[in-house]
Amino acid sequence: MCGIVGYVGNKAARDVLVSGLKRLEYRGYDSAGIATLDSGEAHLVRSVGKIAELSKKLTKTPCDGNLGIGHTRWATHGGVTETNAHPHHVGRIYLVHNGIIENYKELKAELKNNFASDTDTEVLAALINSYYKDKISLKDAVSKALKRVRGTYGIAVFSPDEPGTLIVARLGSPLIIGVGKNETLIASDASALLGYTREAIYLNDGEIAACTANNVEVFSLNLEHIDSQPETIEGNIEQIQKGGYEHFLLKEIMEQSTTLHNTLSGRINSKTGKMHLGGPNLTEEEMRNIHHVVIVGCGTAYYAGLLASYYMERLVPDLTTEVVVASEYRYRSFHLPKDSVALIVSQSGETADTLACLREIKKRGVKTLGIVNVVGSTIAREVDGGTYVHAGPEISVASTKAFTAQVTAMILFAGMLAEYHGGDPKLIAEFTHELSILPDEIEKTLQNNHDKIKTLAKKYAKHEHALYLGRDTAFPIALEGALKLKEISYIHAEGYASGELKHGPIALIDDRFFEVFTILDDWLFDKACGGLHEVRARGGKTIVLTNSKKDIEADDVVRIDSPIKLLAPILLNTLQQLFAYYVAIARGNDVDQPRNLAKSVTVE
Ligand code: F6R
Repeated sequence: MCGIVGYVGNKAARDVLVSGLKRLEYRGYDSAGIATLDSGEAHLVRSVGKIAELSKKLTKTPCDGNLGIGHTRWATHGGVTETNAHPHHVGRIYLVHNGIIENYKELKAELKNNFASDTDTEVLAALINSYYKDKISLKDAVSKALKRVRGTYGIAVFSPDEPGTLIVARLGSPLIIGVGKNETLIASDASALLGYTREAIYLNDGEIAACTANNVEVFSLNLEHIDSQPETIEGNIEQIQKGGYEHFLLKEIMEQSTTLHNTLSGRINSKTGKMHLGGPNLTEEEMRNIHHVVIVGCGTAYYAGLLASYYMERLVPDLTTEVVVASEYRYRSFHLPKDSVALIVSQSGETADTLACLREIKKRGVKTLGIVNVVGSTIAREVDGGTYVHAGPEISVASTKAFTAQVTAMILFAGMLAEYHGGDPKLIAEFTHELSILPDEIEKTLQNNHDKIKTLAKKYAKHEHALYLGRDTAFPIALEGALKLKEISYIHAEGYASGELKHGPIALIDDRFFEVFTILDDWLFDKACGGLHEVRARGGKTIVLTNSKKDIEADDVVRIDSPIKLLAPILLNTLQQLFAYYVAIARGNDVDQPRNLAKSVTVE
């Protein structure tokens, strides 16, 4: 969480920092600030609210210079106030920080400064300043201070005493150094570097770097020199712009056909009916030896894993699966059989709990494969193998196109695994065929049902509660539908397996609720309708999303007409995404940056 930027070069640092912060705003948007250095004099401007507020303030306050740091905050310690906003300034030190300093109270007591804010970051700035007073270099002072710190950090620091130098470091929070021509940029996410440079050094945990406009030197925490080569950044500016849509969320929902093409590109063969993923890098023997798959993720990534597990069990006859929430699993005394493989699912590749699980699983000697979107992210770098889902930058806080891509990538893995485990070739070919037409079917589904979904969203937007229900592969879709609705519309929503209705949730049904059923045209159709009848008999207001042509009685039925059968939950889910979007719009919410959330949860 939180976005960090830094700049040293020959441009006006303020402009580069603000444009970078705008791109990183999705990482946190409680407050923001920048500090620049101009002829030995530092300027600090901070404001509560979004980057637009900071920009307004900057029109009235000078903030010149060719070096600076900036930050957009998602509060962890201390409320949302200007004093708690970054950069923090103590003595000769200016600092931005992403992460949590766990032992900040001990350090605070020891330092005895008059602290202006309630933040752990100001304590870190004071600690660096306390060492800097000893006339050592800024790099040495940062190294000394960081050795005293417990917790996580991505930091950028400067001092007026060393103009032209930015010191950065990371442990557990991403930090990328963009290497340009006579300029060096710092960002917690490569998207902020696009348009300036395509060359970047991805700092590893426990590394410090000293950056000037023409040079970057990387060191260990003990200041041993480390040889680091720049890598090429993927992506382009168009991908991180709204492309004519009013919101990133709508763009990301509507572009799923294109992004799914990218996920599938080169990975399915319609002629042979087979699937192939290059990234796992497993030998035939290793593939044959896999009998258990544990899938780890948080939020939408977890639900993607849950849906994929249903498909995996269908495709691979002798496979057991287990899908776990990362924040729980990391602290469990879990055991994994030797013939396991772990799929680590994450859009950002930076989620702290997911990353911690990855490390725990690796300690147990089990092979880890990443199902990751952001190229070069920490999870992608630490897994043994895996695949990028190629959904392109997902800017809106609510995850949509990444879900579709994650499920698809895991089906591809399952399809490949099935080949080594006596999977039914006919079924594998059926999945392959459906995957091959899925992008076009998504396009059609979204286009054909757009207006209807919009109208329904207006009709139901005033409700206080929603229940999402589904059976079998529609169950993870119910969970995901409820998550999408609650996070952007703030309507209280719960997802349930429809078979669970009678075990409790049916008691909730009253005028303030509406119920969304996803009903699939499969062998469980009648059972799925059973739950619907029970709700209707109790006066519940029902919406049904279905791919069935059979009669269904409900207040509103959205029927898709598609040859897709097995993957219908993925198709129907895109309509749930659209529904949540329009409900949130009808309620006047900020759909791209919903309250209290941040895109990339890099703290526990
Ligand atoms: C929901 C949402 C979150 C994320 C979760 C995991 O719309 O965006 O629930 O899915 O925070 O994030 P990643 O996939 O980046 O690990």
